[in-house]
This record gives sequence, structure tokens and C-alpha cells, in this order.
Amino acid sequence: MSAVRTDSKRITTHTLQEMKSKGEKISMLTAYDFSMASILDEAGIDVLLVGDSASNVMAGHETTLPITLDQMIYHGSSVVRAIKRSLVVVDLPFGSYQGNSSEALRSAIRIMKETGAHAVKMEGGAEIKDSIIRILSAGVPVMGHLGLTPQSIYKFGTYTVRAKEEEEANKLMEDALLLEQCGCFSIVLEKIPSRLAKEVSSKLNIPVIGIGAGPHVDGQVLVTHDLLGITNQFKPRFLRKYADLHTIITEAVTHYVDDVKKKQFPSESEAY
Ligand code: KIV
Repeated sequence: MSAVRTDSKRITTHTLQEMKSKGEKISMLTAYDFSMASILDEAGIDVLLVGDSASNVMAGHETTLPITLDQMIYHGSSVVRAIKRSLVVVDLPFGSYQGNSSEALRSAIRIMKETGAHAVKMEGGAEIKDSIIRILSAGVPVMGHLGLTPQSIYKFGTYTVRAKEEEEANKLMEDALLLEQCGCFSIVLEKIPSRLAKEVSSKLNIPVIGIGAGPHVDGQVLVTHDLLGITNQFKPRFLRKYADLHTIITEAVTHYVDDVKKKQFPSESEAY
């Protein structure tokens, strides 16, 4: 029997909390456009993340840093128009919240007003505490993001596993507890040792969603284009490919080009 929820009840931040209490795992995927978001929503995904990974996947940038607030709003509103059931979380992009808490609040409010999304996600711990508190006090739910935070890639210098050493692991645990204390409804942990993710998830009451953080967390998130095998160069250990759309699309398009060249498309029955 499938474990996918078939009811049409909307997922809220409270639903996620209930799921953690019951031990029901949370499924989360990225979405950046209307068509893909409708498929994912109908397929039963719990949370859709309009990730700033759109900068890589949709725009072809090397990092997540170039994407703008306006561009995130464009992607966010496209996703929100598609969904009937999933909770939609939009990333606050690099440069839209690090300056000060007023700027952070303005950015979060723009996302909520102009996309219709249900929450925002922000990368970092103690260093962005004031901004998180300010946004939360305006009534905007915040999802935290710790571990490998791609907006800090030039500080890390590499996309390797984070928090392997005791000092960084201790800081991550302190940050996770702080984010919960501030009122974040959930936290993403990216590319950290499974043992540490397990410890964080068991210490926190709010749901912990992992990507490359092992199985002992409350839910999992992947970039949809990676899981579907559309992006075929990205092969980290944590990625399980559920389809090979790169091959399927290439074959379909090659077939189409061939038919056009050979005058086999369109046929008389496909014409008016
Ligand atoms: O932008 C994104 O896709 C993300 C996920 C990898 C968690 O932040």
C-alpha cells in the first residue's frame, strides 16, 4: 500500500508538526514553475520549496548567489498558482536579508504579498537571529537552513560535507536550538554527518528536513531536476535518481527532429 497521503487537506506548518509527533516522514521537493509544481502537488508532495537553486537549475549560474528577489518572486508566484495542497516555502535569496533586520523583513513581506507563499526559508544561525525574530514577529513562518548553506559557498570554498569537526558540529547544534527557540517552524540540514543530523532531530521538537543528512531526520528534500535525472552531471552520494528524464527527453526530441526532417510530421490527420 502506498504511504502517500491521498486526502486533499492543505498542508500547513501545523500539519508538519503533527507529522513529526506521529513519526510520519515529510516529503519536500523543489519547484520553480507552474507545470512542474502542479505535477508534484498532484503526486502528493507535502512541501514545495521554491529554492534559490533556481539560480543553478533554471538560470544556469554556477552558484545560488546571483538570483534576485524579483526573480524568486516570479518563480514563487508561478508555483503558488499551481498548488492545491502542498505547503509552499520560498527561499530568501542572497543579499535580500543579510544587511539588517529591516531589509530582511521588507524582503520577506514582498515574498509573502507578491507570491502568496506560506513561508520563507533563510540560511544561517546566530548571525541572522535578529532578522528571523523580526520576520517571525510580523507573522511570517520561517524555515531555517544549516550545514552546507550554498549562499556561503565562497566562505566554505567547497561543497563538501560540513560539521565533521567537533567545533563546527557544536556550533550547528547551538544554532539549531536557537532557531527553534526563536520560533522557526522547521529546519533544513544540508550535507552533514548522519549521526549529527540524528542528534539534532531528536533534540528538537520542530521537524528537521535533511538533504544529504541521512535517514534519521523527520523528512527529506531533493532538487526535483536531480531526482528526475534532468540534470545528469550532478551525482553526489546522497542523490537517488528516480527517473532518467535526460535520456527520455533527448530520445523524444531526436525522434521529433527526425520526423520533421523526413516530412513525417505533421501527417494529414494532424493538419486542419
Ligand atoms: O535551494 C534549494 O534547492 C535548497 C535545497 C537544496 C534545500 O535550499
